[in-house]
Amino acid sequence: MGGIGSRVSGFLSAMKIDLLTLFPGMLRGFLEESILGRAVRAGLLDIRVHNLRDWAEGRHQVTDDRPFGGGAGMVLKPEPIFAAFEELSGPETTGVYPAPDGEPLRLPLVKELACEKHLLLLCGHYEGVDQRVRDRLIDREISIGDYVLTNGALAAAVVIDAVARHIPGVLGEEKSLTQDSYEGNVLSFPQYTRPAEFKGMKVPEILLSGNHGEIERWRREMRERRTREIRPDLEKESNNDEPDC
Ligand code: ADE
Repeated sequence: MGGIGSRVSGFLSAMKIDLLTLFPGMLRGFLEESILGRAVRAGLLDIRVHNLRDWAEGRHQVTDDRPFGGGAGMVLKPEPIFAAFEELSGPETTGVYPAPDGEPLRLPLVKELACEKHLLLLCGHYEGVDQRVRDRLIDREISIGDYVLTNGALAAAVVIDAVARHIPGVLGEEKSLTQDSYEGNVLSFPQYTRPAEFKGMKVPEILLSGNHGEIERWRREMRERRTREIRPDLEKESNNDEPDC
């Protein structure tokens, strides 16, 4: 196996991320492209995708079963997951399970995860996973929002993407982090590029003025206004300036 499926980076300092899923193909394409792919190739991240089925026993390599007590859907069985964790985890591993009933993924949690040395993410499916897996193997249960996806792989990809941006060197321009929507609890300001006029819509005059002080002031005002209008709850949230690792 090449690319994302095998060991990708040789740097000891790279953050290690293992993903355990029944749908490795869903994640590989995502992880090989764009900023994440570049970070992997640069040795900043060591990401491996594993097929949970590889740890399932028997001719049919069954990974799920009907829930005790009845009900719809199937539940991921504990045995293959325990076997995979035994093989993939070490003393510095943080077991992560993306689930709609987990702790909400917000910036402070993202930053905390970015300080970890090794994340082992279990992607759920069907009606969920046997509770004994969650009790014994999982350190962080994380929800990416109040809706239910059909597959935890997508949620795992969101977690990894959000975390990766906080690893030094992953973003080409470090400063783009400080202009993020959530950094400092404010939304971003409107951005424009050439042409200065398009289909009758003009770029705000101030941005063409070359007056950097005035531009900064305009951007600050825009951020505050947009935050008030779109996310008034953000200003009430606790501040995000906890120490980075
Ligand atoms: N799996 C299914 N839905 C999810 C959600 N909202 N967050 C995290 N994992 C999930």
